[in-house]
Amino acid sequence: MNMNYYEKIADNYDSRWKSYTDNTLQKLIQYLPASLENKTILDFGCGTGELIKRLLILKPDLAHITGYDPVEEMLRQAHMKMSQLPEHTQEKVKLQSHSNFENKFDLIVSSSVFHYLPRPRARLHHFKSLLREGGILVLLDYTKSSLLVRYFEWFVKYIDSMHQQAYTPQQIKIMVESADFKLEDSEEFRIRPLWNGFVIRVSV
Ligand SMILES: C[S@@+](CC[C@H](N)C(=O)[O-])C[C@H]1O[C@@H](n2cnc3c(N)ncnc32)[C@H](O)[C@@H]1O
Repeated sequence: MNMNYYEKIADNYDSRWKSYTDNTLQKLIQYLPASLENKTILDFGCGTGELIKRLLILKPDLAHITGYDPVEEMLRQAHMKMSQLPEHTQEKVKLQSHSNFENKFDLIVSSSVFHYLPRPRARLHHFKSLLREGGILVLLDYTKSSLLVRYFEWFVKYIDSMHQQAYTPQQIKIMVESADFKLEDSEEFRIRPLWNGFVIRVSV
């Protein structure tokens, strides 16, 4: 059986991608609403659960976080990470590998996942249907405008068969606005030399 990139590297993902993860998640966290008290959150493409862990520590008064990821090996790492948290904190988390969600959310976050979505416009509409009135979506991804991505995306596709395509900040803005989200704030930032990220906060 052909394993995908994340099935292969799940055990080592956190150490191999540590600086990338630190730089991107720190930025995403700056774009969250100041208070998450009693809020319910979806982390779409949660990977090893690093953002979930950080949010539970930084915002202990949040109500609940659902983490979705299609790769079971990544979710296994997330389960292991959650098991190290106090029991009352673990109770706030649900991890799942299917993308049917029973309830609506106050906040959806998705970090370094947008370039994997086969139908990003349809997914944005899905996000919108999952958000409560006044809900917030924070998306972060690396951008097509980075030199590294512009010239070497073919190589990324070669090593990572799930990769669909990266987008420029402008393309992402157009897509979220076409899905009828209200743009609140956005920024292009440096993840690593020659490798830029884009973060955008929009609301329903
Ligand atoms: C670069 S990792 C980022 C993980 C996590 N969001 C973070 O920032 O640490 C990308 C994640 O997206 C997941 N993924 C791939 N295709 C996806 C899809 N179509 N929908 C949702 N998640 C997907 C992968 O399994 C992987 O865990």
